[in-house]
Amino acid sequence: MQLETLLANITQHCNTIDAYGATHLPIYNTATFDLKRQFGCDKVYDYSRTDNPTRNALEEIFTLAENGAGGVCTNTGIAAISLLFETVLKSGDVVLVEKDCYGGTYRLLNVLFEKNNIQTFYADFTEEEEVEEILKNNAIRLVLCESPTNPGLKIIDLESIAKRVKKYDSLFAVDNSMATFASQRPLDLGADFSLFSATKFISGHGSVVAGAIVAKSQDWAEKLQYFSNAQGRAQSPFDVFLVSLGLPTLVYRMKTQEQSALRLAQYLLEIPEVIDVKFPGLPSHPQYELVKRQMKIVPSVLTVQLESEALAEALIKNSKLFGEKVSFGTADSRLEIPARMSHATYSEADLKKIGLTKATVRISVGLEDTEDLIQDLKQAIASVVLKCVN
Ligand SMILES: Cc1ncc(COP(=O)(O)O)c(C=O)c1O
Repeated sequence: MQLETLLANITQHCNTIDAYGATHLPIYNTATFDLKRQFGCDKVYDYSRTDNPTRNALEEIFTLAENGAGGVCTNTGIAAISLLFETVLKSGDVVLVEKDCYGGTYRLLNVLFEKNNIQTFYADFTEEEEVEEILKNNAIRLVLCESPTNPGLKIIDLESIAKRVKKYDSLFAVDNSMATFASQRPLDLGADFSLFSATKFISGHGSVVAGAIVAKSQDWAEKLQYFSNAQGRAQSPFDVFLVSLGLPTLVYRMKTQEQSALRLAQYLLEIPEVIDVKFPGLPSHPQYELVKRQMKIVPSVLTVQLESEALAEALIKNSKLFGEKVSFGTADSRLEIPARMSHATYSEADLKKIGLTKATVRISVGLEDTEDLIQDLKQAIASVVLKCVN
């Protein structure tokens, strides 16, 4: 079954809720369930932190969408990453992470190091020999990367990295927040875990913070469920409902946004004050061949290097349709300076290592009309450039 069909009517495709043939996911907003009244039911519920029919239904859908054995919906995306760390790591373990990663992941790893002596190596995963060297010389328990990376928008060859990771008996997790299962399925490429922030493209409307993690094996899926209950990571039924509203349109939104993002990238490349535009959908992207092989849809995120910080600031201030907001993948377009917002937790030295300056702007392209967006950028840039000349 194609993903579009699965997502069009999710209650049709999960076993969890089918008693009354509801057309959309019913919200079971209850803390507890009466055991005596569940006589004859396939699955018995007692407490919503452990299991809840609304949440279990979405977990089933995510498991199908990612082609895994089971998964957990968490209250945020970072909670999914936290849950992964808590489930697979113990004090003294060593982790290998792609150095261009979300600022919250970087912060979490710093906290874990201080609290639990979990050490992190950072590497550029497009330099696979570098990755191999670290794997060979250290007992790495877990390898984690995003692809595209955020905000560098590098594409990691997931299948090739998975093969190297397996050679050394490590675990491989992919943060699939940006590409989503509409574009790529990391578990099919050899990863053990695919996790994501559902706050972004998956829910798509900026109405909820949420996350999920899906495991390839039943064993790890059960361990994730166990730790989720033990630590209270679960997503609330209402938040599950909000996430589910985005699913039927996910593929169509992402395809439309991809087209707009490509037009904006092409437009920005013509501006003299724009030094560089990163977008994996541009044929000039260094891993364009890999993009075509690995991804069905390119997420609508651009990273733009401007001439100066003043220019970046002015662009943000003068644009009318792009809010100055973190996050990406929503219906509304947005701009941010990652070094100040989403990646503000990075040290100066580490920002330098991933090439982020205060003149780097991340643009998330939404569902507005493409021409309107281009006109808005045009007027914002014109007012900036004019001011600089004066
Ligand atoms: C790649 C990536 N992973 C994880 C997260 C964390 O997700 P959340 O904000 O839903 O906790 C983010 C948030 O921006 C992200 O960009």
